[in-house]
Amino acid sequence: MLSNLDHIEQQALKALESIQDEASLEIWRVAYLGRSAPLMPIFDQLGKLSTEERPIIGRRANEVKRTLEAAYSIRLETLRQSTLQRSLQTERLDVTLPGRNLPFGRLHPATISMREIVRAFAEMGFQVYRSPEVETDDYNFGLLNMPPDHPARDMWDTFYTSMPNVSLRPHTSPGQIHVMRQYAPEPIRAILPGMCYRYEQISARKETQFNQIEVLAVGKNITLGDLKGTVSDLAHRLFGKNIRTRFRASYFPFTEPSAEYDFECLLCNGQGCAVCGWTGWLEIGGCGMVHPTVLQNGGYDPEKFSGFAAGIGTERIMMLKHRIEDIRHFWANDMRFLEQF
Ligand code: DAH
Repeated sequence: MLSNLDHIEQQALKALESIQDEASLEIWRVAYLGRSAPLMPIFDQLGKLSTEERPIIGRRANEVKRTLEAAYSIRLETLRQSTLQRSLQTERLDVTLPGRNLPFGRLHPATISMREIVRAFAEMGFQVYRSPEVETDDYNFGLLNMPPDHPARDMWDTFYTSMPNVSLRPHTSPGQIHVMRQYAPEPIRAILPGMCYRYEQISARKETQFNQIEVLAVGKNITLGDLKGTVSDLAHRLFGKNIRTRFRASYFPFTEPSAEYDFECLLCNGQGCAVCGWTGWLEIGGCGMVHPTVLQNGGYDPEKFSGFAAGIGTERIMMLKHRIEDIRHFWANDMRFLEQF
């Protein structure tokens, strides 16, 4: 029996030598120290032994068990250490290395343009007012002096929805009514920026969505001179002191008189070039004195109050400033375009 114990011990220790990972070590533990290990029947048989043999065999059996347990613990510790070493080697982190640069985000050109214009107006004392992108027919047209079936409604190719009388706003002008109704009879100096939607044939000059900024001033004794002053001040703030502006008579149902305003062409300084169609002028937007009916719809007495309004195409200003020849770039999300700003 003693030699059997020696044999078990040698065999177990020999098997342990070749073990290189914790999983195999666990199999070894079950095999040599588990319930059905060859050592266990010896303990079971101790009771059957003679009184002389029992202590000798018992001591030796316990000794083998302790040796194997100790060998197991040492092996386990060694394996754990080498696993740790290996992960320290392969997953090493050098905290002294410089970090990786994060790519800088940037503003979208439409946002840049929007902010420049908003800043210019803020300096002139205008507050920003937000109005909805989805409007009722009344706000989009009716309250702007275009009753149902008014032919001027055709000036805007509107996206209608399946809900009766609900459409996407084709311009920011309906916001005039919202802001007037909120503030009447206080004087107003506000700009209303935001996305507009039109059912357009998309081309280099036309998109189905674009940003506009509506300008509205309402108060006592506001004149066409105030409108012209504001527009030329805007041009100076955006493009410098020397740029000239001009007004051309036009028609919008919500203003009387109405005009379109141009900035002197930035690219040729008014000399005439391909961008301005050899006129020396760039068309920026529409404007005019708020129509008495519109003032009334907003809650102002047109006998006592007057106002001016204007619309600005945000992307258009950016196109002029950076010689962008195609408005479709704005929403195409081509990084080669966006990264230039
Ligand atoms: N809402 C017009 C458009 O989108 C532009 C416009 C014209 C705005 C005259 C105005 C205005 O405020 O007075 O075509």
